Amino acid sequence: MDKLVIRGGNPLLGTIRISGAKNAALPAMAAALLTDETVVLENIPQVRDIETERRLLSAMGAEVELGYGRAQHRTTICAAKLSENPEASYELVKTMRASSLVLGPLVARVGFARVSVPGGCAIGARPIDLHIKGLEKLGAQIVQEHGYIEARAKKLRGAHYSFDKITVTGTEDIMMAAALAEGDTVLENCAREPEVVDLAALLVKMGAWIEGAGSSTIRIKGVEKLHGARHRIIPDRIEAATFILAGALTGGDLMLTECDPTHLTALLNKLEEVGVKVKTGEGCVRVMGDAGPLKAADITTEEYPGFPTDVQAQYMALVTQAEGTSIITENIFENRFMHAQELCRMGANIKIEGRRAVVRGRVTLSGAAVQASDLRASASLVLAALVAQDETIIDRVYHIDRGYERIEEKLRGVGAQVKRIGEILPKRVGV
Ligand code: EPZ
Repeated sequence: MDKLVIRGGNPLLGTIRISGAKNAALPAMAAALLTDETVVLENIPQVRDIETERRLLSAMGAEVELGYGRAQHRTTICAAKLSENPEASYELVKTMRASSLVLGPLVARVGFARVSVPGGCAIGARPIDLHIKGLEKLGAQIVQEHGYIEARAKKLRGAHYSFDKITVTGTEDIMMAAALAEGDTVLENCAREPEVVDLAALLVKMGAWIEGAGSSTIRIKGVEKLHGARHRIIPDRIEAATFILAGALTGGDLMLTECDPTHLTALLNKLEEVGVKVKTGEGCVRVMGDAGPLKAADITTEEYPGFPTDVQAQYMALVTQAEGTSIITENIFENRFMHAQELCRMGANIKIEGRRAVVRGRVTLSGAAVQASDLRASASLVLAALVAQDETIIDRVYHIDRGYERIEEKLRGVGAQVKRIGEILPKRVGV
């Protein structure tokens, strides 16, 4: 299992190009199941979850090419020949919950889907009951047994469906299903994330009729058939947020390019309160860490456009270096503070009280051997390591490889002392 070794203390200086958004690429790849024509997606990030999705779609009979040439990170998908009973197996789904995004497209396109129920995950139970309820509302018959969901429908019918809770992939799943349903669908209490808007933009390019993506109410008029399209995935706002916080933490001067500052409003407003100097431009963000001491500031995670839960762990690392007490309230997932204990092992002063974390700063962090537990928790540990004294060794970095493209190269490129050490496999005797 790879580890990252980071020696803290270097201010990050220079430019980082932000990759395409993993959480926009995953639903977009699933959307290719809706047509028998070719879908070309550009600006695909080279991360583990994309490879998992490629394996998932190929296992169902889709032809998937994935190339990371110098010019373009691109995938070309053609789902003309899907297998009779397409299935998302437990082996794949347990490594990536977003596999449930194939449910809606498969039922809409071929009238059948067999998807392993995603188990719990480190950050919470994360059921998909609202995806299932939405598909039933559109007329699918759903059976759940032996850890799998089987969904069937001769033809989905448009309906009026309001999500009990705001769910990002739930909104995406049902929007994709409704695109091929017979008649009109109105979805209420939808997620408003930029990734939902990007998916709708792709579906419209494929011939779908969708209005209101990005608002709480999305209207879809089902069409008979969808055709192929070419689409460029939006920049990854969570990767951008992570590097903005890295620049702030290390007192550096970091320019992020090919990102979209309009997707980062909640974070940028909060950083102004903390006393971090940020300048935004067309497709770029510059963070300057020379604005003096950081000031404590509370956050509460909310659905977009509120403060994103996917930046909560990284923000916690930042406020360990802020003067005063910051209260972090995590409203989206029930167990998303596992990074706190690892930060405490580095010297942070954090107390967890239910859904609240009380962070007292400013403390000096010291390097330690720590363990990543999930994707964003591992990002938090990288940020802490960048300012900790001496060396930090982060184990289980496969978590970080799920959602960050070549993170050690990007950080080294702006002056961080970081290297990856792979498992030294014992030499095979006699070879
Ligand atoms: C998406 O997950 C993202 N993943 C997550 O990013 C992100 O943390 C999350 O949205 C919240 O913003 C992708 O887009 C691939 P939800 P998703 O459904 O859709 C509950 C990362 O770090 N819920 O919006 O699975 C759920 O338990 C990942 O890149 C139900 O109860 O999250 C949670 O409490 C981590 N029933 C809340 O809703 C359902 O059927 C929001 O979850 C669905 C969700």
